[in-house]
Amino acid sequence: MTARKAHQALHRDLERVLVSQQAITRRIRLLGKEISQTYGDREITVVAIINGAILFTADLLRQIASPIRLDCIRVSSYLHETSSLGPPRILDTMRIDLENRDVLLIDDILDTGKTLSAVVEVIRKLKPASLRTCVLLDKKGRREVEFEADFVGFRIPDRFVVGYGLDFAERYRNLPCIGILKPDLQNPPEWA
Ligand code: IMP
Ligand code: MG
Repeated sequence: MTARKAHQALHRDLERVLVSQQAITRRIRLLGKEISQTYGDREITVVAIINGAILFTADLLRQIASPIRLDCIRVSSYLHETSSLGPPRILDTMRIDLENRDVLLIDDILDTGKTLSAVVEVIRKLKPASLRTCVLLDKKGRREVEFEADFVGFRIPDRFVVGYGLDFAERYRNLPCIGILKPDLQNPPEWA
C-alpha cells in the first residue's frame, strides 16, 4: 500500500480534520522564528516528551536557527483511554545535564496540564538557567492544573484528536494532519 492510500484509510477514521498539514507547516515556521528570536545565539537545551512530541519536535527544530542540544523524557501515557487516570509518572528521564542551561520543554498537547506541570517540577529541581514550554496544541477548556505554555501552535476545542504525533492506543501518529477521531472508533474491541 502506498503512503497516500494508507493516509486515506486513516482519514476515514476521522469525524473531521481540525488542522490541515499545510496549516501545521505554516504555523511551525512561525513558531521557529519566534523561538529563534527569543533565544538568539544562546544554546537551547530541548527536552521533548515522547512519544507524542516526536513529530512536532522533529519539524520544529529544523525551523529554529539557534544552536540546540536535544534530549527526551518519557511520561506515562493514557494507554487505551482518552483521558488520563492517575497522576503522570516519569518512565524514563533525561540523560544530558540541564543545570544552568536554557531549557525548552516540548509536548504535543496541553490538556489538563498535569503532564507539563509534573515535568516542569522535575526539571526545575535540576536548576536550569531558564525554562520555557512549547506545545503544538492547547485545549484550554480542559485545564485541571493552572498552566500556560510560552509558545503555542493552535488553541483547539475540547475534543479528542489524533494525528501528527498524537495517538489513540499508539495508532494514528503518522497522519499528516490533526483530526477528531470518530467516537465509535475510540474503543474498538480488537484493540483491547
Ligand atoms: P495533560 O497531562 O492532561 O495535559 O495531557 C497531556 C498528554 O495527554 C499529552 O502529552 C498527550 O499525550 C495526551 N493527550 C491529551 N489530549 C489528547 C488528545 O486529544 N489526543 C491524544 N492525546 C492527548
Ligand atoms: Mg499520548
